[in-house]
Amino acid sequence: MRFLLLLLSVVSAALAVTPDGELEAWDYSRAEQMNPECMEGDIVKPSSQFVERNARNGEQWHWPGARIPYELSDFAGFDAYEQEVMRTARVNYERYTCIRWVPVTANDQDYVSFINGGGCYSYVGRQGGVQEISLMRPDASGASCMLPAIGMHEMMHCSGFYHEQSRPDRDNYVTIYWDNIIPGYEGNFDVCTDCSTLGAAYDYGSVMHYSSDSFSKNASYLPTILPKQVGAEIGQRRGFSWIDVFKLNTYYGCPVPQNVPGPIDQNQNPNVCNFDTDFCGWIQDYKVVLDPNVPDPFLQYADQYDFFRINGTTPSANTGPNGDHTSGNGRYIYTEASYPAAQGDRFRIRTPMITGTDPMCVSFYYSMYAANPSLMGALSVFTLGANDTKPTTRWSRFNGQQSTPSWSQGSFTVSINGGFQVLFEVTRGSDYQGDIAIDDFAVTAGACKQL
Ligand SMILES: *[C@@H]1O[C@H](CO)[C@@H](O)[C@H](O)[C@H]1NC(C)=O
Ligand SMILES: *[C@@H]1O[C@H](CO)[C@@H](O)[C@H](O)[C@H]1NC(C)=O
Ligand SMILES: *[C@@H]1O[C@H](CO)[C@@H](O)[C@H](O)[C@H]1NC(C)=O
Repeated sequence: MRFLLLLLSVVSAALAVTPDGELEAWDYSRAEQMNPECMEGDIVKPSSQFVERNARNGEQWHWPGARIPYELSDFAGFDAYEQEVMRTARVNYERYTCIRWVPVTANDQDYVSFINGGGCYSYVGRQGGVQEISLMRPDASGASCMLPAIGMHEMMHCSGFYHEQSRPDRDNYVTIYWDNIIPGYEGNFDVCTDCSTLGAAYDYGSVMHYSSDSFSKNASYLPTILPKQVGAEIGQRRGFSWIDVFKLNTYYGCPVPQNVPGPIDQNQNPNVCNFDTDFCGWIQDYKVVLDPNVPDPFLQYADQYDFFRINGTTPSANTGPNGDHTSGNGRYIYTEASYPAAQGDRFRIRTPMITGTDPMCVSFYYSMYAANPSLMGALSVFTLGANDTKPTTRWSRFNGQQSTPSWSQGSFTVSINGGFQVLFEVTRGSDYQGDIAIDDFAVTAGACKQL
């Protein structure tokens, strides 16, 4: 039966009628009430007929020049807030990828029309002619697609990507509970044979990953998919993961931005990072959130910039370290205070979920050297426990801390049951010579020793 479905999907792909059937609700607890109904109708084909993949193989699915013309359907009636949500989604493509969503012109044959359909869905890749992305406005039950990252998710389908958990190697990373899936929707959990991972590691944090209750018969009680890695979060709809950014750029043959190092090795220990080979799965915060109900307190306001991972001195003279903390030849991460960064701008990055036995010592090296130390700004470090609604301030330093380019160690002891993330936040001061750097992060057993 599964084989037959696969054949059907290949045929339908050739006919270019492979929409992604998916509904995600603003109110996730009510999503289960909407999934089945919204799969039906003229536009969305029953999703059981389609096999989800990740990057869709084949040049025909790409948008030439990474340019995706779009319009907002006149019939959709998107209000100012909803248009802002969609604009934010487009801005995230501009910020992190080479893909440009541009208003359709009279010369464009192929383009996207954003509609207010019965759910959140998109075709996978360029179809030829006009194709729809549906971002449902809030309906009577309060379900809605109006979250920037839901727009980014559907737009990533349109760019050529299926869901993350359709990768052929996914059974090493997630468990599928077939009996818990709404009958007829099992096809959404099939793996692909003709897709490409683009060399990226499996990505629990992908904006394209299902959540544990996707297509569940009983969302509160019966998970359909669970990560094998303890503490891994799936189904986030906050913004692109690093690997999403890597894949979008790679699929379109674009260089991966300097602040995006490429595939992240999910098997490495999240408790240590020297940044020499990558960002160790650290997540930059996103300029996406407009929804004040987003539970993550750090995402209720935007950060302006990202940390960069570099080697050697920072680009501006009289600021930052001359090299990494250990050898001087490795890499470290830093925030660039030069224009366009402005006073008060924030840069935020956080670790993956860290687990261990209490107490634990969190330590790291920092460089806060500046020509004008009093104008430098601040580095603050927080922890966010798995069940916390607010981060806890653990450590902070203001102004230039070193009189020459060098590194100092910071540390604090934590006792947090059930896992936590460490968040680093730089606030830029009033001077452009205010680069702040971090290196050699480690979480070790036992309380910190007095420095
Ligand atoms: C979901 O499961 C719970 C616990 O078994 C049950 O009380 C509830 O009625 C179920 N809901 C649905 C919609 O089946
Ligand atoms: C940093 O740069 C030096 C000199 O260009 C090079 O030898 C070294 O391999 C680089 N280190 C990393 C981690 O890229
Ligand atoms: C966090 O919340 C989960 C789910 O409610 C619960 O199972 C777990 O015990 C909580 N952990 C802590 C440390 O409170």
